[in-house]
Amino acid sequence: MATSTTVEEQARLVESSKRLAAFQAVKDYLLPEYTRIGIGSGSTVVYVVEAIAGLGSAVTSKMAFYPTGSQSEELIEAAGLNLQSISKLPAGQQLDVAFDGADEVDDDLNLIKGGGACLWQEKIVAASAKQFVCVADFRKLSPRLGTAWKKGIPIEVLPMAAPRVLDELLRMGAQKPRIRPGLPGKAGAIVTDNGMWIIDAPFAPLLLPKDIETGSALVTGMWTVDALADALIKIPGVAEIGLFYGKNGLQVASGAQKPVAAYF
Ligand code: 5RP
Repeated sequence: MATSTTVEEQARLVESSKRLAAFQAVKDYLLPEYTRIGIGSGSTVVYVVEAIAGLGSAVTSKMAFYPTGSQSEELIEAAGLNLQSISKLPAGQQLDVAFDGADEVDDDLNLIKGGGACLWQEKIVAASAKQFVCVADFRKLSPRLGTAWKKGIPIEVLPMAAPRVLDELLRMGAQKPRIRPGLPGKAGAIVTDNGMWIIDAPFAPLLLPKDIETGSALVTGMWTVDALADALIKIPGVAEIGLFYGKNGLQVASGAQKPVAAYF
C-alpha cells in the first residue's frame, strides 16, 4: 500500500513538473508577435499546447503551428490551432520558435530524443527554428547522456539496412543495440511516420568537452557526444539519430539542433 502511494505521488510530481515547465517555457518564449511555431512530440508537449491554447484565440489565431509527426498534428488540431506543414515553409524562412520534449538533457544541453520514434521530423523542425526550447520533467536532467535514459540512443534506419547498422553499432561499442519492437499488439518492428525502423543503441555515458579537459576521456570505450554523433550519422542506412548536439541557437543563425534553453 505504502509503495503504491509512493508510485502515485511520484507520477503526480512528474506530471506537475512537466506542466510547470511547459507553462513557464511558453510564458518566456512565445511572444505575441510570433507567427510560426514548432510543436514537438511526446507527453510533455501536451502541456505546451495546453498553455498555448490558454492564451486565447486573440493571440493564437495569427499563429501557424508546425508539427513533428502524427501525434503533434492531432494535438494541434484538437486544440483548435492552425495546423501547417514544415514542407510548406518556404526556403529562406524560419519558425520563430519550436518547443519539444526530450528523453535526456546533459549539462551542455545536448539531448537524447526519439523515445516516441519521432526524432527525424523533430530534428527538422528544431533546426528550422530561430529558437528551439526544450521542455522536460526533472528526471530528464543528467550530467552525461546515457546516465538517466538507459534504453539507448534512438537511431532511425532504413529497414533493409538494419542488420548492417546493428553490426556497425556493436563494432563501435554499443551494448546490446536492438530493433525497437512494435507497439503492444503489433507484431514486428515499430514503423516511424517516415516508414523507417528505430534501433536503440546503449553506449557508456557520453563525455563533454569539460571531461576531456579534466582527463576523463582517457577512459577506454567512452565517446564524446560530438564524436559519437558524427560517427553514427555516417553509417550507411542511418536516416537520422536521436542525439541533438553541436552548437545551440545562440551560437548559430540557423540549423541549430541544441536548445537555447531547457525547462524542468
Ligand atoms: C519523441 C521524443 C519526445 O520528445 C521524448 O520522448 C520525450 O517524451 P515525453 O515528453 O513523453 O517524456 O523525442 O520522439
